[in-house]
Amino acid sequence: MELIICRTPEEAAQAAAQFVIDRVNAKPGIILGLPTGGTPLGMYAELAKAVCEKRVDMSKITTFNLDEYCGLPVSDPQSYYTFMNTNFYVPCGLSATQTNIPNGEAADPDAEALAYDNAIRAAGGLDLQVLGIGHNGHIGFNEPGTSPDSRTHAVWLTEQTRQANARFFAGLADVPTRAISMGIGTILEAREILLLANGADKADTLATALRDPVTPDNPASFLQRHPNVTIIADLKAAARL
Ligand code: GLP
Repeated sequence: MELIICRTPEEAAQAAAQFVIDRVNAKPGIILGLPTGGTPLGMYAELAKAVCEKRVDMSKITTFNLDEYCGLPVSDPQSYYTFMNTNFYVPCGLSATQTNIPNGEAADPDAEALAYDNAIRAAGGLDLQVLGIGHNGHIGFNEPGTSPDSRTHAVWLTEQTRQANARFFAGLADVPTRAISMGIGTILEAREILLLANGADKADTLATALRDPVTPDNPASFLQRHPNVTIIADLKAAARL
């Protein structure tokens, strides 16, 4: 694993954006796996800036998002579709045919999950998967206990995750209880992985994931089994590494 420690979240965002830009420039038709959450926001802003300044051409990329809440319409401000549209698809000028995100409104979430997993395979698999990390070590919405062989599936969110994400909603009661997430097996099939972590509240989880034995109790620890992982962390998140 390669570890890049940046002084501030802003520097980490620039480093993450440059990492992605280098991969897109090397392979314009790259298949990118993308995360939501607070951590990648700075990276998305830097990528949009790079597109405007013509430092990267995103017109041939294809994206697959990690996850989506179940039961929120795409028009809901808290849906991950809206998050991606606002922060990445529109600012980078991506067309609808270039982007993929699980349909959280599907009547049959299990069938939607299977179709999504198949679509990733049909596209040729993920060249680069960018990840954040939850406070309990979740990647995507793969909560502790998830099998490393799991494929894209419908999940129940833990109370801890719902509480962590309640800051984006009017209150805890509004946070969905289910989501569709790429599985850990799906994520580990990506040819390259970039893990982003910022802030003191991620320090213990990050250190446990990267330094302690691999365990389903910390899903991010399965990244130790992947041959091509880079971690970009700010000083606070890297404090216990
Ligand atoms: C959500 C997302 C994850 C993300 C995590 C951490 O639960 N499903 O993909 O990594 O939150 O989010 P943040 O970056 O806001 O700490």
